[in-house]
Amino acid sequence: MTKKNELYKCNTCGNIVEFIVASGVPVVCCGEKMELLDPKTADASGEKHVPFIEEVSDGYIVSIGKEVEHPMTEEHYIQFIELIIDGKLIERVELTPTDKPKYHFRVEKGKDVVAREYCNIHGLWSNK
Ligand SMILES: [Fe+2]
Repeated sequence: MTKKNELYKCNTCGNIVEFIVASGVPVVCCGEKMELLDPKTADASGEKHVPFIEEVSDGYIVSIGKEVEHPMTEEHYIQFIELIIDGKLIERVELTPTDKPKYHFRVEKGKDVVAREYCNIHGLWSNK
């Protein structure tokens, strides 16, 4: 069953889609069912991918990762960061290799704050 805000990837062509409205019907690309991207929430070692959220006066600053910045090179970088507050996708920022792996979301605050990021090599990550 597909759900709102889920991300799916086609393992043939590399398309990534996100549901705005999900009917529950499986999504197909290149003749195959797309794969649900299930965000990872813990780094085993080395590179840091789990988004770190800092609450500031006018919103949240999300960094990938906390002590060690994720690389931002043509070959390996964070493609986007999303902020989901109380179940609503509030904003998605697309990054390029020349950007910092960090973004200041100037938004209204909420109770349940989730940040997700997508690394072009290591996939989808979430703070929870
Ligand atoms: Fe990575």
